[in-house]
Amino acid sequence: MTVTSRTQVGIVGAGPAGLLLSHLLALRGIDSIVVENRSRAYCEARQRAGLLEAGTVELLRTVGLGDRMDAEGLEHGGIYLQFEGERHHLDFRDLTGGRWVTIYAQTEIVKDLIGTRLAAGATIEFEVSDTEVGELDTERPVLRFTDAEGTRHEVVCDAIAGCDGFHGICRDSMPPGLIHVAEREYPYSWLGILASVPPSTDELIYCRHEDGFALHTMRTPQVSRLYLQVPADEDIEAWSDDRIWAELKHRLEVPGWELKEGHISEKAISPMRSFVASPMRYRRLFLAGDAAHIVPPTGAKGLNLALADVTVLAKALSSLLKDGHAGLADAYSDASLTRVWRATHFSWWMTSMLHVDPQSDQFGAELQLAQLRYVISSRAAATMLAENYTGYFPLTWNTELSEAQVVPRAQGPGQQRGQRRGDPGLGQRERCAEAALGAEQVQRPQPVP
Ligand code: FAD
Ligand code: PHB
Repeated sequence: MTVTSRTQVGIVGAGPAGLLLSHLLALRGIDSIVVENRSRAYCEARQRAGLLEAGTVELLRTVGLGDRMDAEGLEHGGIYLQFEGERHHLDFRDLTGGRWVTIYAQTEIVKDLIGTRLAAGATIEFEVSDTEVGELDTERPVLRFTDAEGTRHEVVCDAIAGCDGFHGICRDSMPPGLIHVAEREYPYSWLGILASVPPSTDELIYCRHEDGFALHTMRTPQVSRLYLQVPADEDIEAWSDDRIWAELKHRLEVPGWELKEGHISEKAISPMRSFVASPMRYRRLFLAGDAAHIVPPTGAKGLNLALADVTVLAKALSSLLKDGHAGLADAYSDASLTRVWRATHFSWWMTSMLHVDPQSDQFGAELQLAQLRYVISSRAAATMLAENYTGYFPLTWNTELSEAQVVPRAQGPGQQRGQRRGDPGLGQRERCAEAALGAEQVQRPQPVP
């Protein structure tokens, strides 16, 4: 037996993109259902991103998801770049006139979103199987799935959002020949660990070592996250905990600075890939987040892009479904792809500059070092990195009062919100109202003044 029901937006995937979309649509009075093939526990524990652009942080605050992030997130005003055995600091606040980034794990954002949606009475179907999207040539696309108890469902929708990640089904459900893919595979992977030890650094260390890239990041003041470049087809079994710590120390330590070791609670290897599918829409099926594009994690952009996509998509769907205006929906793919390609270039650039390419030679290595020396010695080059890392495109979200521009304008030292603070920070009154509606879809870049 198949149970038939009706909703406005069918959302495939309860990752950050699908969950935030469901929340934003609810703020505009639009119903949705989210279907997810994993369990709630799995979604809440899946270790992935950790770094949020300032605009992402402001968006989450603006839409009522900032409480725990403000209490537990760690604000960072810069990063360290390490190469040739020396560590150099890039001060984003100084370079950009006050921009920063925040460490707050994707696991925590997902927990906040699932908790908020369920408390609001939303439907999230976990552990579904055989998800399908159909009737895509009509104005009533259909979402089909089998729920955890084995009942088959058919949900008639006004639109469907494919937020089902890189391995999802929505992208491949587009008509054959529609989607164009541009991609790069990298000849290395990241081995990532989560360790129960206080971070050995106050801000992230991106390290190019002749034996491979290493990154020291963190989750909380008690938990460190570290990554090592390993060969593309590496077997995790080849990496004992002792070998991981020895290699991290070998790549990261500099005279006078030691890496603290601790219990490794998780380790996994992730491939590195750049992938952009276009267009991100077929009629009333819209792709968002990793379902449409993947970047290598060196630029820390994937989660930020996923949340930016659905912010634009929520406005487009609300205009389409509430007011009958198709303009924003028609502009969604092009507007998103402009932002996606900026982040794709930045992520490729950071990755190529910092990793050791096993197929490269002395010429390639010298080019990387020349680029790194340039970044730490030229204010213009450092600013280029800082401007992209902290977020180049503004996000906007209509609050009841005005169109809030949620990438904060530049702030002077001492004006930014402190780490783990209780001050209200950028309140509604301080946010700049976007003058023209429609500007939201264009998302003009926000270069450093
Ligand atoms: P996903 O998180 O992949 O969610 C998709 C969901 O859809 C999943 O829950 C999946 O189970 C579900 N699904 C799939 N198929 C189906 C189906 N058929 N039916 C129902 N459900 C389905 N980004 C950053 O911005 N900053 C960082 O610091 C950063 N670091 C990273 C580090 C690593 C090691 C990795 C791997 C990624 C990192 N990223 C980072 C990228 C970021 O994690 C992703 O871009 C982000 O998860 C994308 O969110 P999403 O919601 O689009 O997709
Ligand atoms: C992380 O905290 O997991 C992280 C941070 C920055 C990156 C990649 C991953 O570039």
